Amino acid sequence: MLIVANWKAYVEDFSKAKKLFELSKKIVKPSTCRVVLAPPTPFLGALALKNISEVSFAAQDISTSQGGANTGENTAEMFASVGTTYAIVGHSERRAQGDTNEIIALKIVRALASNMTPILCVGEKERDRDGRYISFVREEITTALIGLTNKERARIIIAYEPLWAIGKSVESAILPNDLAEMVLYIRKVLAELLLRKDSAQSLVLYGGSVEPGNILGLANSTGVDGFLVGHSSVDESSFKTIVQQLS
Ligand code: PGA
Repeated sequence: MLIVANWKAYVEDFSKAKKLFELSKKIVKPSTCRVVLAPPTPFLGALALKNISEVSFAAQDISTSQGGANTGENTAEMFASVGTTYAIVGHSERRAQGDTNEIIALKIVRALASNMTPILCVGEKERDRDGRYISFVREEITTALIGLTNKERARIIIAYEPLWAIGKSVESAILPNDLAEMVLYIRKVLAELLLRKDSAQSLVLYGGSVEPGNILGLANSTGVDGFLVGHSSVDESSFKTIVQQLS
């Protein structure tokens, strides 16, 4: 299993960031449960630069820019140079700030060029009875991958994060059956976009109100390869329980 801890802007204090990193180093078991931390950018450099532990780091977002006169932008190259090996792209909170499918496709190109593994977030705002949400998710995946080679497509991790389930609680998370169905569907879309042997290896994660109370139900028999965890990843006791339950 792969656990990506998306700290968002929940952690505003470097000493708390260090504590969460220390905890992650203690509980990570790479043979069964890999841990990737996605801290806010100022903390990421400070934590990742000298990291020799089994914990990896992700950027919460990267710029489409390749540097130059772009005040405030954080490029893929900058993240990679301080030891970041993953990049979250297309998170719904970034899409809400204007990231379109085309911008996200370019961010993926930038991440790959800096040798980082992109974690592409996709997910519908709401579910309708006609199943239009299914084609919405297909479109998000297709536009992000279409311009890439098969080898590049094979490196993308998909994080399915329905917006209606984000930032809530156990009761609002997806039901295991519905997740199983969606994971299967995403794999079908990937099988159309990749060579069969590669799509079978692609990782599909789930995110949206993953908590200690639902982690096992969501992990067992849904076919999911891991989780993108938001609010529970900044609570030491919840995060520890989640990682331990998956190890
Ligand atoms: P949540 O966030 O776990 O707080 O729902 C998940 C995410 O937005 O990545």
